[in-house]
Amino acid sequence: MPLFYTQNINETTRLAIWHITETEDFFRKIYIPITEISHPHKRLQHLAGRFLLQLLDSKFPVNKIHLDGRRPFLPDNSRYFSISHCGDYAAAILSKDTPVGIDVELVTPKLQLLEKKFLTEQEQKLIKGNDSSTSLKRLTSCWSAKESMFKWYILGNVDFRKDMIITSYTENGDKAGKITAIFGKELNTNCDIEYRFFDDLCLAWLCREKPYH
Ligand SMILES: CC(C)(COP(=O)(O)OP(=O)(O)OC[C@H]1O[C@@H](n2cnc3c(N)ncnc32)[C@H](O)[C@@H]1OP(=O)(O)O)[C@@H](O)C(=O)NCCC(=O)NCCS
Repeated sequence: MPLFYTQNINETTRLAIWHITETEDFFRKIYIPITEISHPHKRLQHLAGRFLLQLLDSKFPVNKIHLDGRRPFLPDNSRYFSISHCGDYAAAILSKDTPVGIDVELVTPKLQLLEKKFLTEQEQKLIKGNDSSTSLKRLTSCWSAKESMFKWYILGNVDFRKDMIITSYTENGDKAGKITAIFGKELNTNCDIEYRFFDDLCLAWLCREKPYH
């Protein structure tokens, strides 16, 4: 039962990461996917995400999840939640009252190829570390932060370079920290995203009211 990490964000919001070492049968005890996913590892990640929701809240109705494209939601909006997976890890965040977004990523130099597509020159300068490994970790946490904002917003149509601008990057030691960003077409919504590293795994999450009703 490799529950890898849990954190209480506040009284109504919790997150967890699962290290996937089980076979599908383990996860299928609580949930059968609405549409079958053909790739075996993607299917396993998907099942692990749903499993985590029930771990965070034993009453979570995983079998009532609907999909809007790939975005999962509960038709009665009784809970806010977000899911992410990467490699052998799945993560979920669940809140009774506040919209949330989560992302997990493994640190990989491949992300450098995308850097200019999701960060402005000013953002690139802001996060530049004194060596390449610091820079790569910072880059990963910024990507993860923007992915978590994208999921939190849910409405899509978000340009990662124009509609989300990182304004500060704070490190609390070398394993965790906070990223602040302005979000939206008018860049008038302030967002605080937290991140944490577990060796090469980066977790980022956001818990904030929506900028619209
Ligand atoms: C939706 C998106 C964020 C998913 O990311 P991903 O890399 O596939 O993988 P993750 O594991 O982190 O997240 C997958 C989970 O996100 C959730 N999800 C999927 N689409 C979503 C959406 N539109 N909104 C919120 N959550 C979504 C699902 O729970 C999914 O897991 P599941 O299918 O098992 O339920 C990503 O595909 C995307 O569209 N990103 C923005 C695109 C973009 O503009 N990128 C360019 C930047 S340069």
